[in-house]
Amino acid sequence: MTRATIARTKPAQESAAPAAALLAWYDRHRRRLPWRALPGESVDPYRVWLSEIMLQQTTVKAVAPYFAAFLDRWPTVADLAAAPVEEVMKAWAGLGYYSRARNLHACAIAVARDHGGRFPADIAGLRALPGIGDYTAAAVGAIAFDLPAPVVDGNVERVVTRLETVDDPLPGAKPLIRALVADMLDPARPGDFAQAMMDLGATICTPRKPACALCPLRPFCAAAAEGTQESYPRKAPKKTGTLRRGAAFVVVRADGALLVGTRPPKGLLGGMTEVPGTEWSADFDEAAALAAAPLPLAVRRLPGLELAVFRAEAPQDMPPGPGLRWIAAGEIAGEAFPTVMRKVIAHALPGR
Ligand code: ADE
Ligand code: SF4
Repeated sequence: MTRATIARTKPAQESAAPAAALLAWYDRHRRRLPWRALPGESVDPYRVWLSEIMLQQTTVKAVAPYFAAFLDRWPTVADLAAAPVEEVMKAWAGLGYYSRARNLHACAIAVARDHGGRFPADIAGLRALPGIGDYTAAAVGAIAFDLPAPVVDGNVERVVTRLETVDDPLPGAKPLIRALVADMLDPARPGDFAQAMMDLGATICTPRKPACALCPLRPFCAAAAEGTQESYPRKAPKKTGTLRRGAAFVVVRADGALLVGTRPPKGLLGGMTEVPGTEWSADFDEAAALAAAPLPLAVRRLPGLELAVFRAEAPQDMPPGPGLRWIAAGEIAGEAFPTVMRKVIAHALPGR
């Protein structure tokens, strides 16, 4: 059984011990990251917010140079708000998920215009800003303003489900995990607690082969006591669902340029680059899909993917068609393609 129910009845003294052990570890082993204030330094909410937006779906290593470049160019939220959105989008290029960049700029404008250039210091106020969801509101609230908010990302989910042997699968277990984190955090140091949990998940309580022998939470960890740590977090089995199919058109010119478009800012893979294609649906009809070819060219079906992949060679002077553009061969690697599009392109253009 999940130990969670037991945890709720633990005496206060005992439930403070894991946080104290974790924070003592953090004080010795915290990662030095460009957006973190050193002990004693005051925290800049702008830096915290900027880093949290950049770190969504992107690694610490990839974010670091972008974070430095943004701060250099736009040292305050008012500077970022005053920048043309195109400049912000360009500076963001390579981080992917471009709706984040658009929301980033919209949020800077809202803070500058509606809040006198200061981020609101409460969860509801933060949550109301563009691009700030539950996670980001809690993270900025805790790290920048020391609000006792439970900050739960994937790392924290892993640590907590192991610590308390939470047997309910994700994502259903999320409310329980939030409650457990709220119970566990140190209200005197919520920002350090949140980042300590992230660091522990990133460096010690890793998905495979967690280093329990080095872990400050080892004495409190139910999964480590049983030896079941690698079986957490539990995940609900993937629904097989109906197979959805669609067509993708890989159109290349002799100089290697590739025909691409940008997905709408909202929805699946919003704002990312794609090769032209049809919607994906259960009742996909391949013959009808051919009518959706972006340019009047002979296409040929390539076998081997559920997505019907068509390829065509275009003459050098062919205009790209509405909403589409050519990108040079050398830019394909740096373009914001989602993984599925990379697979389509690799399938149609082996060796690129
Ligand atoms: N990932 C998201 N936010 C982070 C932070 N503040 N420190 C380290 N990793 C993070
Ligand atoms: Fe994770 Fe092991 Fe630490 Fe438990 S003891 S929190 S499983 S690293």
